[in-house]
Amino acid sequence: MTAKVIDGKEFAARVRAQVAEHVARLKSENGIVPGLAVVLVGEDPASQVYVSSKGKMTVEVGMNSYEHKLAADTSEKDLLALIDRLNKDPKVNGILVQLPLPGHLNSDLVINSIDPAKDVDGFHISNVGLLGTGQKSMVPCTPLGCLMMLRDHLGSLSGLNAVVVGRSNIVGKPMAQLLLGDSCTVTIAHSRTKDLPGVCRQADILVAAVGRPEMITGDYVKPGATVIDVGINRIERDGKAKLVGDVEYDSAAKVAGAITPVPGGVGPMTIACLLANTLTATCRAHNLPEPQGLTA
Ligand code: GUN
Repeated sequence: MTAKVIDGKEFAARVRAQVAEHVARLKSENGIVPGLAVVLVGEDPASQVYVSSKGKMTVEVGMNSYEHKLAADTSEKDLLALIDRLNKDPKVNGILVQLPLPGHLNSDLVINSIDPAKDVDGFHISNVGLLGTGQKSMVPCTPLGCLMMLRDHLGSLSGLNAVVVGRSNIVGKPMAQLLLGDSCTVTIAHSRTKDLPGVCRQADILVAAVGRPEMITGDYVKPGATVIDVGINRIERDGKAKLVGDVEYDSAAKVAGAITPVPGGVGPMTIACLLANTLTATCRAHNLPEPQGLTA
């Protein structure tokens, strides 16, 4: 068997086009332009690339982008004052503070100072609690993108065995909550799980989010399973820099029914879902109906 390739690049372009359509309607019918504020502290090169790509795509879908680039030695007090201003600014519907923050800043404190209604990352403790109790929340972008791809490929997920490998707050835990919300039987596994290959082989849906290059080989995959690879690992092979996932693509693709590639799988979905979340936050702020198919 050779797996169907789930094309995240194409899917993300479709999501962005849907968002752009809603934004155009919001503008013409209600005179509203959604605004996304992105805060970057310091000069981490990878973060700078992400932030500039977020800004570009925000403008491309017709939203306003507000970039706040702060020096690496910015004090917590100044950062919290900026977030307070953004919380109060009616033109700003979404706020994202790029992580990781420099070590002298308390990330939990900073994230929890964002108005939960504007927390388009879904990292605020209120949104984590709302998601965990099945209430309306802002949902973290990467797991939301994975859920959209799974629903698109499989239709109903009800009753399927899902194994999430990885227990991070950003991906593993919210991913498990979303799959549970869609009536999967969910296992959260991780690097310490006993007989990890055996546990993974039970999965109709296998989500790899461990951050270890090519750890999940074909031996971990149940024949016909849908494999979602969240990993983005930069490695060097044959003297060349290469981007690989947490899944060893070639061996897994021989066993799986469908698989996301790296690059071009989950990655592009993250920013598309950030824009979808900003649109959702804007609609909620104005008591307008939420866009269908762009939320959990
Ligand atoms: N750094 C890496 N990924 C993310 C993300 O999804 N959100 C934020 N805020 N920072 C990140």
